[in-house]
Amino acid sequence: MEQSKDNFLGEAIKWWKEAVVYQIYPKSFCDSNSDGIGDIKGIISKLDYLKYLGINVIWISPMYKSPMADNGYDISDYYQIDEKFGTMEDMDNLIKQAKLRNIKIIMDLVVNHSSDEHIWFKKAIKDLNSKYADYYIIKDGINNNPPTNWRSIFGGSVWEKIENTNKYYLHVFAKKQPDLNWENAELREEIYKMINFWLDKGLGGFRIDAITYIKKDSEFKSLPADGIDGLSNVDKSCLNQSGIEVFLKELKTKTFDKYDCMTVAEAPGVPYNNLDKFISDDGFFSMIFDFSYADLDLNENGEWYKQADWTVNQLRELIFKSQTEVQKVGWGALYLENHDQPRSINKYVPEQDISYYSKTMLATMYFMLRGTPFIYQGQEIGMENCIMDNINEFDDISTYGQYEMALKEGLNQRDALKLVNKRSRDNARTPFQWNNDNNCGFTDSKPWIKINNNYKVINAKSQIDNPNSVFSFYKELISIRKNSIYSDILIYGYIEPCLTEYDNIIAYKRTLNNKSLLIINNFNSKNISIKLETDIKNIILNNYTNFRNDTICDFQPYQSVIIEI
Ligand code: GLC
Ligand code: CA
Repeated sequence: MEQSKDNFLGEAIKWWKEAVVYQIYPKSFCDSNSDGIGDIKGIISKLDYLKYLGINVIWISPMYKSPMADNGYDISDYYQIDEKFGTMEDMDNLIKQAKLRNIKIIMDLVVNHSSDEHIWFKKAIKDLNSKYADYYIIKDGINNNPPTNWRSIFGGSVWEKIENTNKYYLHVFAKKQPDLNWENAELREEIYKMINFWLDKGLGGFRIDAITYIKKDSEFKSLPADGIDGLSNVDKSCLNQSGIEVFLKELKTKTFDKYDCMTVAEAPGVPYNNLDKFISDDGFFSMIFDFSYADLDLNENGEWYKQADWTVNQLRELIFKSQTEVQKVGWGALYLENHDQPRSINKYVPEQDISYYSKTMLATMYFMLRGTPFIYQGQEIGMENCIMDNINEFDDISTYGQYEMALKEGLNQRDALKLVNKRSRDNARTPFQWNNDNNCGFTDSKPWIKINNNYKVINAKSQIDNPNSVFSFYKELISIRKNSIYSDILIYGYIEPCLTEYDNIIAYKRTLNNKSLLIINNFNSKNISIKLETDIKNIILNNYTNFRNDTICDFQPYQSVIIEI
């Protein structure tokens, strides 16, 4: 794309605004050595597949050394690759092989907490007077009770008692994930050094985990209970607390700023009126994930077993609210799925309507919004949720936590299982379905987690050369956004909602230098007539073969079109 552009915001040209990112969950992508676990060599063997799809950045969930209590989000050595995934040499080779294909690699950066098996934590616990004890958050208990009544994200208290003492350490997530104490300057320097070590290797940047939890309310006081467990949601005391800006600014200055890298932060809890600090041109990050519409099916506390009802009109409102607020101040990340979410088709489309049409419509709907699109592995072939028949079939730590909470709230086992199935993070973590051979081409041995038994029908091999597949449709979307005469409009163009008077239609206009595209997505399972009030110059993409384009257009169920007007 050319470097000078005269556009509506005078928007800065950045390589990561023009990128399409593909997220790999390494444990479930491709197993090269028949131990049932995906690995780096497996990823390397699929780079040509990803190149063919058209993406140019890969974000890989954590592959650092880890006891895997939370599948790698519990790191015991930031400078080593876990042997399950390979070696540092494999990692260097991956960066190199990707580069040969013009693909950048970004890694997950998990620095809100480490593993309890990290050497710092082991030293801290061994000697509470050592300097390492202050690398973590350790407080005295009160009358043999934990210091506060905060509830961890995965359920239960955030405090874990340190054996033979009256002291407790804090963990916002699981007890094997003790929080690092960002108030400690020496610890912060250790983190910056580690980040620069990876950036010096030629990484393209980082996806930054749970970063809005790094500052805690310094008063450490209990709050009124908000559940029958007598605990209070940890977010009230540890999420996006004031003073966090100081840490985030320093983090950026001492690391990311020195490289031309991309940073995408998992930053829940940032209100829209605070967004500029995070994502403006000199914000803390290149972009952040907005959870407002990914989590519209959850209640306020994010409990899976108390799902909220929602409508497509509400979804539309949340998407446009997010787009408009982000557009005012900076850049956003677009996604429907990740390793913490169920499959998007099962979330956003009623079961009886799941089809090629609804899958490609959903894809178009989010892909043409303003921001950098992320595709989660398997989304491009339309992978679906995987129903587990028994609670023991799950691996995910938070699924167990939610199941326990559901039982405590009085649900029976069958209902609790049904509800966690809908939202379990394992829905996205089953092996990638490469073909219809045994074990879906993911491994030659027993996979670490169940394979979705629809793999004979839904798999990459059957779709790659089929022009009418979900895969080919994604390929087309990527090429239109990245390498077409419309790329400038789709990347740098202004966004504005349209046709909001129609129910269950998510439509918007992208405009740059007086050229406009209209993207219309029909979430109705019936035909709907829409009056366009504008001339159609050209139909750029359509997930049906036909389109009646009179002044009144007839949209078929889950039809989606991109029109030049
Ligand atoms: C983030 C990750 C999630 C992990 C948690 C704790 O939310 O996306 O997978 O469990 O942080 O690190
Ligand atoms: Ca393996």
